Amino acid sequence: MSSEAALDFAPGVGADIGADAILNALESVVIVAAPNRTIQFINDAGEEFFAASASQIRGHDIAQFIPVDSPLISLLAQAMNDGNSVFETGLTIATPRIQRQVINVQVSPLDDHPGSAVINIFGRSIADQVDRQMTHRNAARSVTAMAAMLAHEVKNPLSGIRGAAQLLEQAADADDQKLTRLICDETDRICALVDRMEVFSDQRVLDTVPVNIHLVLERVKALAKAGFAQDLNILELYDPSLPPVEGNHDQLVQIFLNLVKNAAEAAPASNGEIQLTTQYRHGVRYAVQGSRAQLHLPLVVTIQDNGPGIPANLQNELFDAFVTTKPKGSGLGLALVAKMVDDHGGVIEFDSQPGRTEFRVMLPVAEETS
Ligand SMILES: Nc1ncnc2c1ncn2[C@@H]1O[C@H](COP(=O)(O)OP(=O)(O)O)[C@@H](O)[C@H]1O
Ligand SMILES: [Mg+2]
Repeated sequence: MSSEAALDFAPGVGADIGADAILNALESVVIVAAPNRTIQFINDAGEEFFAASASQIRGHDIAQFIPVDSPLISLLAQAMNDGNSVFETGLTIATPRIQRQVINVQVSPLDDHPGSAVINIFGRSIADQVDRQMTHRNAARSVTAMAAMLAHEVKNPLSGIRGAAQLLEQAADADDQKLTRLICDETDRICALVDRMEVFSDQRVLDTVPVNIHLVLERVKALAKAGFAQDLNILELYDPSLPPVEGNHDQLVQIFLNLVKNAAEAAPASNGEIQLTTQYRHGVRYAVQGSRAQLHLPLVVTIQDNGPGIPANLQNELFDAFVTTKPKGSGLGLALVAKMVDDHGGVIEFDSQPGRTEFRVMLPVAEETS
């Protein structure tokens, strides 16, 4: 396929396979919009998407097929103005022709054709969308309610029991003192457990300042190396120009420590490897369900391990509390991570396959104050 054929969209010109044939084989929608939003080209997937034929669509303003106030139209304008490619996830579009659909969109200006852009639409089932980020938030919320209940209903009576045992201890003989000690030790153990849950019920607004994420990761690495990740190789791929995140240092350490600990526990004993990556992604926005607001979360921290992967049957409830496959696991690690990432206004995602599991945490940039 010559580049000319690709730009003119003339099928088969001077090539064995025409550009049209290639674009029509794609499952994603490809639209080329000329200046004034006129649709110049649309592939087969696009005809299906708009429920109209290419001849009905070509030459018309895209606003005839998508509502003018649709975020897709403003995205198109943004890409054409800025001359940069923009990517947005979780847009909802609905018209009389198109039933409500959640989509991911990439709009890329055509450098050689000023004012023209390629729109690439990837369909996403609503279920898929609900599945990822939002279930995590719900998971965090259900734990929050339970933690509050535990703190109240369990801790208060426990301290009464402990106090009573201590009183008995004073008058007890040596044998009975063993029993009163046992009561105290066990109540302490339950209290500690409830304390760990209590962080979930913390509903205060997070105290945030600009935080250098690399200092956070350095801390996490030092803690990991001193303990559970002694024999593992930890690789760091950092973008040194990353701006500070708006966050809480201690909680960020906790988030990444939990993720690195899981990675370490999953990595094989020999040649176990964990990779920490930071990057800045332009133009990625997340839709917030139930509102028109969009999150701009350009800071991405990835924790990747070469372990066996997350069991398929766990993936839908991974962030729920008490989900664990470890004999001595609490199943609280990821639930806490989900809550803290949520409190930071961030989003967490994962991808897992045997030999390569990665958790990605997307965070907001600190506002510039100078
Ligand atoms: N990097 C990973 N690779 C494979 N499985 C993982 C990974 N991270 C988490 N998991 C799975 O998710 C479960 C829940 O993790 P977590 O909430 O931290 O609880 P815990 O570590 O106490 O089991 C783990 O038991 C494990 O099965
Ligand atoms: Mg864990």
